[in-house]
Amino acid sequence: MKSLFICIVLFSGIVLGQDLPTLFPADPFDPNNDAARLFDAIDGWGTDEDKIISVLCYRTASQRDVITTTYNNQHGNLANDLQSDLGGSFQTLTIMLTHGMIKFLSIELHDTMARAGTDEKSLTEIIMSRSNQELSEIRTFFLDYYGHTLVSEIEGDTSGAYQRLLIQMAEGLRDESNLLNMTAVEEDVVGLYEAGPAMEGTNEDLYIDVFSLRSYVHVNQVAIRYEEKYGTSLTTVVTTEFEGKDMGNALVSILQYSRDKAKYFASRFHESIAGAGTADQDLMRLTISRCEIDLGNIKTAYQNIYAVSLSSDVSDDTSGSYRSALLALID
Ligand SMILES: *[C@@H]1O[C@H](CO)[C@@H](O)[C@H](O)[C@H]1NC(C)=O
Repeated sequence: MKSLFICIVLFSGIVLGQDLPTLFPADPFDPNNDAARLFDAIDGWGTDEDKIISVLCYRTASQRDVITTTYNNQHGNLANDLQSDLGGSFQTLTIMLTHGMIKFLSIELHDTMARAGTDEKSLTEIIMSRSNQELSEIRTFFLDYYGHTLVSEIEGDTSGAYQRLLIQMAEGLRDESNLLNMTAVEEDVVGLYEAGPAMEGTNEDLYIDVFSLRSYVHVNQVAIRYEEKYGTSLTTVVTTEFEGKDMGNALVSILQYSRDKAKYFASRFHESIAGAGTADQDLMRLTISRCEIDLGNIKTAYQNIYAVSLSSDVSDDTSGSYRSALLALID
């Protein structure tokens, strides 16, 4: 009989390391004063972009949500005023910053699917990196805001195993406990081998279940044990089993995220700024969605992988108030 190992894995400090944000709640926080400052920056001739940055880029999403409500009650409509006063990427970024986090992520999910040709990498990124509770709030908000469910939009924009994987992830059923059960790990290691390399074709359902329902600590342990046992990395296995498909890319992303989420996001940032042109929407989303969580860790990972700081790469690729605003959130 196999012995049963249960390891209590503390998320902070041991496996995933401590999360270091770059944006912290303003304290003291005075939403009336902030709304007035924004109105002052927008009202009348010209626009004081630095003043807008001094408010929107130094308040957390939940604080910005309160500021937006306050502004809308007292001065008009913040998003509309920014829309008519500003232009370009700075306009897009500041409007994103008027939303609370759940609304922001819901809009990002919708945009990701509404673009010509769905941006699968971003879709996987957003859904994979949110807790069951956040996913539940997103599903509720999404239905209310767009009049149809998130799942129905995923159904319309994706297909096959990838679609089933995303829907099961979006349903927010992932194990979020900090317990690592080595017996269950071994079962999945053998199960994935038998459902893929050991047979003709692939039993997609098992891959979907393991990657969408198990905790990330578990998935990472499965990857480690799989390679020890079969001498092939699970990344190679899923790439081969789901060759040239969105599913394979998604499973690789989940493996990267499970192993080291700071490194995963560093590579996402790099993709958004590397090469000709900048994927501005990705850059803005990555910045806004991570600055309150672990952008500090991501910056360290970025420096280690690319031997240049994230701030200097972002600085090289952007300009004007857009650059100042991004750097305020990143630094
Ligand atoms: C660990 O996993 C095995 C196999 O899935 C299961 O039978 C057992 O109940 C689990 N142990 C705990 C404490 O959850």
